[in-house]
Amino acid sequence: MIEFDKVSKWFGAVKVLTSVSASVAKGSTVVLCGPSGSGKSTLARTVNRLEPIQEGTITIDGRDIHATGVDVNKLRTGIGFVFQQFNLFPHLTVLENVMLPLQRIRSYSRKDAAPLAMEMLSRVGLAEKAKSLPADISGGQSQRVAIARSLILNPGVLILDEPTSALDPEMVGEVLKLLRKLSEDGMTMMCVTHEMGFAREVSDRIWFLKKGELRFDDEPTAFFSTDAPSEVRSFLSAVNRTH
Ligand SMILES: Nc1ncnc2c1ncn2[C@@H]1O[C@H](COP(=O)(O)OP(=O)(O)OP(=O)(O)O)[C@@H](O)[C@H]1O
Ligand SMILES: [Mg+2]
Repeated sequence: MIEFDKVSKWFGAVKVLTSVSASVAKGSTVVLCGPSGSGKSTLARTVNRLEPIQEGTITIDGRDIHATGVDVNKLRTGIGFVFQQFNLFPHLTVLENVMLPLQRIRSYSRKDAAPLAMEMLSRVGLAEKAKSLPADISGGQSQRVAIARSLILNPGVLILDEPTSALDPEMVGEVLKLLRKLSEDGMTMMCVTHEMGFAREVSDRIWFLKKGELRFDDEPTAFFSTDAPSEVRSFLSAVNRTH
């Protein structure tokens, strides 16, 4: 569904992605991991053109998304994006935050947007928080609201960049549980995370980036195997030390 073909990117003179080729199959979950500064966020952000690329192509359902003439706003409404920081509007209720894309992008009235947003909140288990303000819910709940908001326009793909990194440890589980459910429901997902338990149990493939190169792209069993490349194994032991 998403195809990276020899994608390279520079920030000025610094090359941060080097000829990345890989694909995300429809309905699959890819976990993207690697050391800090390896280019994970940059690669994730190329998918909805938050970052331009200088070489190669990225296609979604066969369409070259970095081609000139692509309607970037339309492209972005088809891709849900979830960040480490949830970026909810503090003056709007939880329900209003989830309604907003429907009103702004699909021109729904409040009356028409509210029941759809409510349904989405039920899906993420937060119907009872609909009238709360973001300040009055937990970090884990806030991230679930942000996920609900990113799903409200029915995107074909969900990209997540360290969705649990800003959370207190006791709240990580509820967000991962929701992501697992979305994965099981057949959502196509690309998730940058250091949560290796999630990677092992939920992902279909694991991509390991190092210095902007895709050094590993295989199933979780291969990634966690003792036969994995030594750089993968040393990354895993480093992650285990800090988590
Ligand atoms: N806007 C920018 N301008 C210049 N260099 C940048 C910019 N954004 C990122 N970089 C550089 O690009 C490289 C890749 O950064 P990126 O944020 O993609 O890494 P990452 O794997 O997501 O790291 P982390 O695990 O710390 O989030 C790094 O060397 C970073 O310093
Ligand atoms: Mg990052």
